Amino acid sequence: MTSDVIVDLAALGEDFTRDPYPVYAGLRARGPVHHIRMPEGAEAWLVVGYEAGRAVLADERLSKQWRNASPALGVKQVSAGITMLSSDAPDHTRLRKLVTRAFTPRRVDELAPRVQEMTDAFVDAMLAAPDRRADLVEALSFPLPITVICELIGVPTLDQDTFRHWSNISVSAPLLEDRLDAAKTINEYLTDLLESKRSRPGDDLISALIHAADQEGGDHLSHDELLGMAWLLLVAGHETTVNLISNGMLALLSHLDQLAALRADFDGLIDNAVEEMLRYDGPVETPTYRFTKEPVEIGGTLIPGDGQLVLVALADADRDPARYAEPDRFDIRRDARGHVAFGHGIHYCLGAPLARLEARIAVRTLLDRCPDLALDIHPAAIQWRTGMMMRGPEQLPVRW
Ligand code: HEM
Repeated sequence: MTSDVIVDLAALGEDFTRDPYPVYAGLRARGPVHHIRMPEGAEAWLVVGYEAGRAVLADERLSKQWRNASPALGVKQVSAGITMLSSDAPDHTRLRKLVTRAFTPRRVDELAPRVQEMTDAFVDAMLAAPDRRADLVEALSFPLPITVICELIGVPTLDQDTFRHWSNISVSAPLLEDRLDAAKTINEYLTDLLESKRSRPGDDLISALIHAADQEGGDHLSHDELLGMAWLLLVAGHETTVNLISNGMLALLSHLDQLAALRADFDGLIDNAVEEMLRYDGPVETPTYRFTKEPVEIGGTLIPGDGQLVLVALADADRDPARYAEPDRFDIRRDARGHVAFGHGIHYCLGAPLARLEARIAVRTLLDRCPDLALDIHPAAIQWRTGMMMRGPEQLPVRW
């Protein structure tokens, strides 16, 4: 059955941004697939619930390629170059294989001492505040992942502030024109960066990819593919882990029993606590767009095959009581494995080991260095990032 009723999420305004969970749960009670209008204005088919959401993430009948998007949707790709996240197999397989080795848990664990050093420096600077107050987003959640990914990829320290500014606009600005303008600026910046790496290679991932591309017998990455890889890693590394650290600390600081339990047995509980942070209030509310290439039936609803936009509510999948008992309870001892905060299927997050490492180190350092860390704002007063893609506070005031 095809539904003509459109659920207008745009009409819910700020309430939906602040707390989308009850809205998704209300839709889930009526079925797994809903024709919606997103706050951004475009129409989409929203998939809610764990089972349907997970199945859609791995459904190869849906395409990640923007050329399959219906022009009638009025949505435009905001990115530079060609990326694995906007490719289907076999292009996706080839692009992902080039960088898989740099992000295995073993390779990522080697970065721990450096991530600890950076975290210590940010926390030192934060604790120097004379009024013993700070915005945790500004002080740690934002700068840590940026600095890590920039160093890994080879973006000079001096450029990081500029890059952060444009990356933020390209992902979150309400106006499409602003996002496209920001993407253009990043495109020019990265093209210059690739040129300078070509003439003066460093000990970084981009230099290694250029080298592979230039080598006889190496997989040849086109300019657009190199650009896309740099863009994707930088933006994915910038815009997501920030929310894991912020949302995770917000959950801990507003559930004092859980905070006390973690402090009492940090080594025993931290890995599980990070999984529960990802499940309970993950950084990505709905992931990147999928498009129909043929009519697709999901949970009894037939979605037309003419490039319709399909959106999976990861935030709802991980709060589905059919998968997690008492899903709205934050419980760092529950078995949160199997959550879809990092997606599922061939596009499962490449950076998951890195994000987990950064979160473990950030949370440990904050708890160790600030025994009396507390929220300096009522959770209801927090301003959340707009749009349906990212879920995270704009600021997170804390005191100690
Ligand atoms: C807590 C932090 C993070 C979260 C919650 C997260 C979440 C996700 C999700 C949900 C996807 C799948 C998107 C989709 O299917 O539409 C994804 C893909 C991806 N992520 Fe992450 N991510 C995080 C951190 C990172 C970091 C630090 C990196 C940088 C290395 C990264 C790199 C990527 C890449 C390259 C892909 C595309 C994979 C592919 O298409 O095969 N992510 N991420």
